[in-house]
Amino acid sequence: HFARRTLAVAIGGLAATTLSLQVQAATEVTLGHTLSDSSHYSVGADAFKETLERLSDGEFTVNEHPSGSLGGERAMIEGLQIGTVDVVITSTGPLGNFVPETYVLDLPFLFEDYDQARCVLDGEIGEELLTKMSDHNLVGLAWSENGFRHMTNSLREINTPEDAEGLKVRTMENRVHQEAFRQMGASPTPMAFPELFTALQQGTVDGQENPITVIVATNFWEVQDHLSLTGHVYSPAAILGSPILLDGLSDEEREWFNQAAQASAEATREEVSRLEEEGVALLREKGMTVKTDVDPAPFQEAVEPAYEIYTDEYGSEMLDRIRSSD
Ligand code: PAF
Repeated sequence: HFARRTLAVAIGGLAATTLSLQVQAATEVTLGHTLSDSSHYSVGADAFKETLERLSDGEFTVNEHPSGSLGGERAMIEGLQIGTVDVVITSTGPLGNFVPETYVLDLPFLFEDYDQARCVLDGEIGEELLTKMSDHNLVGLAWSENGFRHMTNSLREINTPEDAEGLKVRTMENRVHQEAFRQMGASPTPMAFPELFTALQQGTVDGQENPITVIVATNFWEVQDHLSLTGHVYSPAAILGSPILLDGLSDEEREWFNQAAQASAEATREEVSRLEEEGVALLREKGMTVKTDVDPAPFQEAVEPAYEIYTDEYGSEMLDRIRSSD
């Protein structure tokens, strides 16, 4: 009888120890993005990890999953909603399918330069859009950056919209972008990013459009000969969280996530600026022809109907506020 009691006490003690170990165990945060581990998104993911782990004193550990290993951006956003991913760094490409209020940011030639875009996203408008995410089962943590998008292709140099006529261009899964390319006379083919390299290699599409940062980080020079600095749209990135993890946190814990996202956005923007300067030379070295002095005016004129289509559906209030925000 005594031996049985001693055993019961010992087991009870063990269970309590296991329980207290479980309580103390760090919460693992799964962070996903689509770009390589040498990209501006990875610089941002590293900053997120370092900041969250430091602020929380190890209460949270961050596992980074780069290179689309958790799927394309649309799939990862779905993952946030069902709690299979905790934090995602994503362009706004597929985000409008979930949060239509963000489509305004995808309008071509909306922002004139990096300063204006960053200022709008860091101000009242950006904050409002981040808050909107919670109406769609997502948590908006911060605005980070992808960069101004430029066209690459394997057929010819692009100087005017006429040169884009009939070109099969992969676009993001974004209605506003698809419409803009249709207006330019190209044939837009929406596709998730992880499928793009092979599609370019096999000639399923002739071209694609992305910022210098992405063209460099994805070795697109191996499958594309021409780059034209069209700068046709600024591409923000959003750092999003899963409500399944974040809604259960204390205010203090939530603040650590906010600060980690802020640090991530800052580090990413710095890397984008650095690569904007060095990237073109690198791509030339790799054998791409780079057309730097593209006149934006005819492109801007060609995509004008995309604005009408947008305002017919979503109104012009947000657009007007952004336009008057310089
Ligand atoms: O082209 C895209 O889908 C996006 O720009 C990318 C490369 C996934 C970065 O967010």
